[in-house]
Amino acid sequence: MTDILGGQKRTVYCGLVDKSFVGQQISVMGWVNRRRDLGSLIFLQVRDRTGLLQVVFDDAVEKDVAEKASQLKLEYVIAVTGTVRMRTEGNVNPDMKTGEVELVGEQLKILSIADTPPFSIGDEKAGEMLRLKYRYLDLRRESLQNNLITRSKICHVVRNYFDENGFIEVETPFLGKSTPEGARDYLVPSRVHPGDFYALPQSPQMYKQLLMIGGIDRYYQIAKCFRDEDLRANRQPEFTQIDLEMSFVDNEEDVMSIAEGMVKRVFSEIKGVDLGDFPKMTYSVAMEKYGSDKPDLRFGMEICEIGNVMKDSGFVVFDNCLNANGFVKGIVLKGHASDLSRKDLDKLVEFVKTYKAKGLAWYGLTQDGVKSSFAKNLSQEKQDALVAHLGLEVGDIALIVADTNYETTVVSLGALRCELASKFNLIPKDTYAVTWIVDFPLFEYSEEESRWTAKHHPFTSPKNEDLPYIKSEPGRCRAKAYDLVINGDEMGGGSMRIYNRDVQKLMFEAIGLSDEQINDRFGFFVNAFNYGTPPHGGLSFGLDRLVMVLCGTDNIKETIAFPKIQNASCLMCGAPADVDQKQLDDLAIGIIKND
Ligand code: AMO
Repeated sequence: MTDILGGQKRTVYCGLVDKSFVGQQISVMGWVNRRRDLGSLIFLQVRDRTGLLQVVFDDAVEKDVAEKASQLKLEYVIAVTGTVRMRTEGNVNPDMKTGEVELVGEQLKILSIADTPPFSIGDEKAGEMLRLKYRYLDLRRESLQNNLITRSKICHVVRNYFDENGFIEVETPFLGKSTPEGARDYLVPSRVHPGDFYALPQSPQMYKQLLMIGGIDRYYQIAKCFRDEDLRANRQPEFTQIDLEMSFVDNEEDVMSIAEGMVKRVFSEIKGVDLGDFPKMTYSVAMEKYGSDKPDLRFGMEICEIGNVMKDSGFVVFDNCLNANGFVKGIVLKGHASDLSRKDLDKLVEFVKTYKAKGLAWYGLTQDGVKSSFAKNLSQEKQDALVAHLGLEVGDIALIVADTNYETTVVSLGALRCELASKFNLIPKDTYAVTWIVDFPLFEYSEEESRWTAKHHPFTSPKNEDLPYIKSEPGRCRAKAYDLVINGDEMGGGSMRIYNRDVQKLMFEAIGLSDEQINDRFGFFVNAFNYGTPPHGGLSFGLDRLVMVLCGTDNIKETIAFPKIQNASCLMCGAPADVDQKQLDDLAIGIIKND
């Protein structure tokens, strides 16, 4: 039999009880975290959101209370009333926040009993799949609760910041039309319009621009977004953006400074960290030095140009590549030449191949001399030139990619750079390396579709000086777009928008959209621009990713109460799942099963 709460109130949270409560009678409520029955003494740990408190029932307690205490099991929900006292010297637990005190139980209510949980609460080693199936139990884990508390605090800071800066929080619909972010949409069938579908928003992009046309002037929203794309450690099919848009601005700086202020405020209030002013790096420098538009700047190992010293080297791979106007570039791993065995190096060759590189060459200096895959093809003079150019010292090893494709060369080296940094623990903990990436290309070429596509989205404004080249040389046009990168992860991105009809038309033409396609996909949106559109721009941050950085986790699931797994399903509730035939009939939907 369980007891009823009967209006009893908690007087204090478990984790907040300290010396100042000694001698006071208090009531705590929570779950039995641990239990030790020594016959005349029963020790409990009671857990709530704030932490743990030791409770002891001794032989002075009423018989029926002692009897009840002896029935307790793990995860029972209880209310205990008693008096706080100091623990005796040998019993102080310095690892526990409340370790100096204990509650001497006088009354006990069992509010709910519990089956034996499938894993012990707080056991970070329990399999993630099992924990996700019983997420409500996993949520009792301290680190997960702390992440959710941090997430809530971040939202609070964000709302205050935007409010102070004259932004209005506006909600935009979930049931809408396909948006231009470029992932696959989640579709919702309409019952009233059989055969028609709503698309869940990949972002509030079009709505927020329409809000600017609607005169809202400064908008923000903590918005749910939905994208049917391959999941990774930093991606979820439904995730949250801190989304903003502002009017009467035509310079990237206007939006970037507001956004930067928000991120600084969040770090200062949540972590007490002053991030200082954010540096800017152009897209082309980021690619050249780090092989990525989201470079991790917590460590060096920048990509070096080697083609100039390796011209006519005698090594056929380099020579052929350079003669075909290709690229020879490399990175230097300092001090670990001897730590890379032949087997390790072979693995690294396979690693760069996954980034389309054809191979990897190496040149290292060890105590035992040169360790290289190609030195035998090189004159001593060329070797000396390479060593001097790269500043190689004993212990260092250069890893080199030669390829006729620029992107393949830098991207494979960029990925290798991160792989080695993680393998050799070169990434300092608890540091935040922040940078803006600016001057993105406006277009990227899709080999698959044999056409230029918008790199960001088709409403992104070109740089004024690149306007004349939109149709003639799309590849040289840069966008008024910017991303914010922290520790090698894209935290947010945005752009100044096109607000001039002629430019928008040019843009659509450049990416090969016919008038019919434009009308069909964005007709209502483009039409709105005919009625007076202020210059405007905006940006969106991934809230889940910000929480990841601030909580120091590299698993996005640790920042979300009820996340999905890799195949986009929810292990706890079993979504997605089939539905009744009646529901399908209502929606005029037939299912073709591929057995
Ligand atoms: P973008 O597509 O770059 O821009 O998205 C903005 C930010 O949202 C986060 N993000 C994600 N987080 C978790 N899971 C995902 N699947 C996921 N996809 C994106 C990233 C990213 O930087 N409307 C534009 C913004 C604008 O132009 O104002 C947009 O959505 O942190």
